[in-house]
Amino acid sequence: MTAALVPFSPDARFALSRIESPTDDFASDVRAGLTATPKSLPPRWFYDDLGSTLFDAICFLPEYYVTRAETEVLTSFRNEIAVSFGPQVRLVELGSGMARKTRILLDVLAARQGDIEYVPVDVDAAILERSGHDLLSEYPALHIRALCSDFSRPSIPLSAFAPSRARTIVLFLGSTIGNLDPDAAIAMLRDLRSALRPNDALFLGADLRKDRATLEAAYDDPLGVTASFNLNLLQRINRELGGHFELASFKHRAFYDEVRGRIEMHLVSRRAQRVRIDALDIEIAFADGETIHTENSYKHDEATLRTLARESGFTITNTWTDAQRRFADVLMIAS
Ligand code: SAH
Ligand code: TRP
Repeated sequence: MTAALVPFSPDARFALSRIESPTDDFASDVRAGLTATPKSLPPRWFYDDLGSTLFDAICFLPEYYVTRAETEVLTSFRNEIAVSFGPQVRLVELGSGMARKTRILLDVLAARQGDIEYVPVDVDAAILERSGHDLLSEYPALHIRALCSDFSRPSIPLSAFAPSRARTIVLFLGSTIGNLDPDAAIAMLRDLRSALRPNDALFLGADLRKDRATLEAAYDDPLGVTASFNLNLLQRINRELGGHFELASFKHRAFYDEVRGRIEMHLVSRRAQRVRIDALDIEIAFADGETIHTENSYKHDEATLRTLARESGFTITNTWTDAQRRFADVLMIAS
């Protein structure tokens, strides 16, 4: 179902619609995740107003090199990247957030083509409004059709708008692909491929494998911003579902699993405890040291990226990395 939050009118430069999906149920995800063994929660629920603001703060942390490395890639190669996109493009962006890095590409694209249609897709409606508002004042030729939607089946939001003559380029930045398990990532990219025409393309940002110390610091900063971001998930359960989590009795843990090539993030119970959640009418028991697995962040290399593309119907034509080879942005063409 599609609901207009900011209605579309033909000459308006901003529209925002919500596309509902059966997966949009916080209460059932919390029930399923916390009654399972081992316990887990899906990461999309991190991003309420406070969560998105905390993530934005993470991007400014000295330890979180990811944002700076991708900014370097986009800045160093922006002209080459724009040429690889072709003369007339429409931009879709999955998990757009504050769309700060997107501006580096919008700067060159705005200079190359007249009007640009930009379709940001994000689960957080407030961040779509905020970032949309900022972008409109900075880019007079921009038309924004924001979609508040889950991106795990991108063909659903993508089918909400008319085909265009312009080539569709789908941006998926910030290594958000890494937050999906490999099978889920392939399923998502296959579904995306089914909504694209041959020669449309995906511009994908992926964090690269590197030493453990660098990786673990990026997901466990001494200021505690990442810990707050993780713990906010419990706060959200308290706020929206009448949960009774005591935040001080859980702690943030992040570690690198080198075999699987992923950072794992957990919330660890500091003691044996029982926590009631009123709206679900359940009480969850935690053993001392038991964890809720809240996120993975997979790290890539050339081989894993090639597999991802091949398994989902794309061909990698360009790869750009920062000088220290921490992060890669790749252009994958729909075959
Ligand atoms: N692209 C930005 C933000 C990355 S953070 C950057 O590179 O810095 C991930 C973004 O994806 C957040 O804005 C979050 O709200 C959104 N997001 C996370 N899971 C999502 C999902 N399942 N569907 C749609 N958006 C999602
Ligand atoms: N896509 C980002 C990443 O994996 C998301 C992220 C960064 C994140 N830091 C986080 C998610 C901390 C949860 C907690 O790098």
